[in-house]
Amino acid sequence: MDLQLVTSGQSHGPGIVAVVSGLPAGLHVDRDRMQCDLARRQAGYGRSPRQRIEQDTAEILGGLRHGTTLGGPVALIIANRDHANWGPAMSAWPVTTDELESVAARRWRKVNVPRPGHADLAGVMKYELDDVRNVLERASARETCARVAAGAMAKDLLAAVGIEVLGHVVQVGPVRAEAGAELAREDFARRADSQLECLDPAAEVAMLAAIDAARADQDTLGGVVEVRAFGCPPGLGSHTEPRLRLDARLAAAALAIQAMKGVEIGDGFANAALRGSQVHDELSFADDSFRRRSNRAGGIEGGMTNGEPVVVRIAMKPLPTLMRPLRTATIDTFEDATALVERSDTTAIAAAAVVAEAVVAFELARCVREKFGGDSIGDLAAAHRAYLDRIPWTPA
Ligand SMILES: Cc1cc2nc3c(=O)[nH]c(=O)nc-3n(C[C@H](O)[C@H](O)[C@H](O)COP(=O)(O)O)c2cc1C
Repeated sequence: MDLQLVTSGQSHGPGIVAVVSGLPAGLHVDRDRMQCDLARRQAGYGRSPRQRIEQDTAEILGGLRHGTTLGGPVALIIANRDHANWGPAMSAWPVTTDELESVAARRWRKVNVPRPGHADLAGVMKYELDDVRNVLERASARETCARVAAGAMAKDLLAAVGIEVLGHVVQVGPVRAEAGAELAREDFARRADSQLECLDPAAEVAMLAAIDAARADQDTLGGVVEVRAFGCPPGLGSHTEPRLRLDARLAAAALAIQAMKGVEIGDGFANAALRGSQVHDELSFADDSFRRRSNRAGGIEGGMTNGEPVVVRIAMKPLPTLMRPLRTATIDTFEDATALVERSDTTAIAAAAVVAEAVVAFELARCVREKFGGDSIGDLAAAHRAYLDRIPWTPA
């Protein structure tokens, strides 16, 4: 059974839609978890006022009854509250000039200035468009709210087999958090006290200062987020075909998030500078279970989980829309111009940790569906139990 997600919608259209197919029947969807993740995506130090406008909530349109999946696709919409200010400018159907003029001209006039660092210029060329808005509305990271809602359902599925996926911020601009090689699930409780989804309070003070400084300079910051998945049994993903390799799949999922430009599994880049004897995680066997004596591989060997926590780190570029706009040229007259500034975050690194957590959860849930199948969550959990009975591995 293949778990799939399709999203639809524009940033200032009526809403962002997610359709998730391949969930088994009988899965209890935790409404509070979904709401909490949507709220986490909107929070975080360094975001713009738009986040306060939106206050996302997912309205379920199909696939659930009384909070439980029925086996068919789950469809949901997250309303764009800001759509009220855009109405005719973003109408799906043709509108009259009078209707258009009922909203501010900047909302309906064609945008002819592509922003550097965005999809704008290549998008208008590729899709034969004369209005940059027709690109930017869909390229916007507003779309990630759908991936977070879908990720919340993936987490519900993973919870049924004892897997938990947790993300945090490990770097903002040049400021790095203390590396926590041995982080456990419990350590993530500290996230609740953070304005940046960060587990290192001392580093966070410096991160907040770096964000304030960038904002004062009308500039932006990127950073690095890390996602850990606990409780994965050995054998999610596969060495047998390139497209099934879990490391490749996680990298693709991570880089499919707007602004993410680098991925490492475990200590990927640091390992490249070391000798094999310093890198590879030696095996041991105790208490009926194989274990690794370290986890520099980040829980994946041969394209499969190896039973240790999965560790994925993702680098985010500084946001491309600067309040002090970059230089560009118009798409119609090719004259020099400065990029449009509609509104922008100084950094969205905390939100990125939440989105990264969601996409990693979704990809792992896909692997769980492939491995354990089942039309109902009961069948899936039974297949998982039978597998654990067969292999010499127990969850830590
Ligand atoms: C959660 C999140 C929020 C973002 N917010 C902004 C923003 O406010 N301003 C901006 O210029 N880019 C923002 N971005 C990044 C752009 O969407 C992204 O850089 C752009 O679409 C170009 O895509 P690319 O960077 O993947 O090439 C955000 C990305 C994420 C993941």
